[in-house]
Amino acid sequence: MRYKDEIDFKELLKNPIRLFGLSYIYFLFIGGIIGAYYILSFNSITRNETTPIVLADSAQFVQDIPMQRGALIAPVNVTEVGVSSKSLIDKGALLFKTNCVSCHGDNGMGDGVSAAAMTIKPRNFHSSVGWKNGRKISQIYKTLQDGILTSGMPAFNYTPAADRFAIIHFIRTFAADFPVDSLSDLLDLERVYSLSKGTQLPAQIPIKLALQLKAQECSNDVKTVEEFCSSMASTTQEELGAKIAMNVSANQGKIVTVALSAKGKNLDDFIKSVTSDPITIGFKASVARLSNEEWNALYSFLSKVNKDKKS
Ligand code: HEC
Repeated sequence: MRYKDEIDFKELLKNPIRLFGLSYIYFLFIGGIIGAYYILSFNSITRNETTPIVLADSAQFVQDIPMQRGALIAPVNVTEVGVSSKSLIDKGALLFKTNCVSCHGDNGMGDGVSAAAMTIKPRNFHSSVGWKNGRKISQIYKTLQDGILTSGMPAFNYTPAADRFAIIHFIRTFAADFPVDSLSDLLDLERVYSLSKGTQLPAQIPIKLALQLKAQECSNDVKTVEEFCSSMASTTQEELGAKIAMNVSANQGKIVTVALSAKGKNLDDFIKSVTSDPITIGFKASVARLSNEEWNALYSFLSKVNKDKKS
């Protein structure tokens, strides 16, 4: 006996639409799953999860002022240093090596080792393109004075004026077409920067360091009036006075005022002025019960505070 095939494959191949008739349910099902997955993870699918949003630390891109020793910028005569000479160019070449090569490169092409990491590239001195302040001596002087801080060109305002002119003459040897300054351009430099007078530049430290030092200073500071008083006292008599002052004062902050008022008074006047109205000036009433010896100690302590306050 021959059984009929359960699935008639030949028949199915002849009429493939019937095959679809059986499987569309599975496609629907899979489509449904994909759809559900998409909707459920909509938040993460639409975002690039590999680069999480990080707020930049402002300390990384806000430049602090550098540590600088105070300096006297020696006076120069602008009509002398403003004129190029072999000795100025030679001097400038040396200064260029130590100050500028790291960014502007050995040959002033703007390809120094630090340049690679900079978004705004250091100027190529061989090209006349893109100069912001300009290529005249007077304009480059301004660049060195102020820097172009937004793009990473530092200020060289602590470099002596004569050295700056030497560097300028040197970098102007990189191309033949540097524009010439008129006499009035140079005299303008003198007018703006008083080059013939020289400049006294104050020392400066980075703001961050200053804040740290200040915080340290504050945490080292005597914290309580007690500590303040005993730190002021240098003899046992004064120390005793400091203790008494702590005991008999109602308002420790006012003691210093009392100390100031003790100035020029002898012991008797001092006792009188305190006992006449102790409460108002920050003492407790018990101050009236001090022994002579204790008054003595208190007096010598407060006049010592007074002395130190003045100095
Ligand atoms: C920390 C890197 C760095 C150092 C060091 C540096 N420069 Fe620059 N310099 C730059 C950058 C960056 C620019 C481009 C600035 C811009 O295009 O805004 C620039 C531009 C200049 C310019 C063109 C200004 C203009 O008008 O566009 C001059 C001139 C210059 N530098 C001179 C010097 C001299 C001279 C020195 C050394 C005394 C020096 N630089 C040291 C980074 C530096």
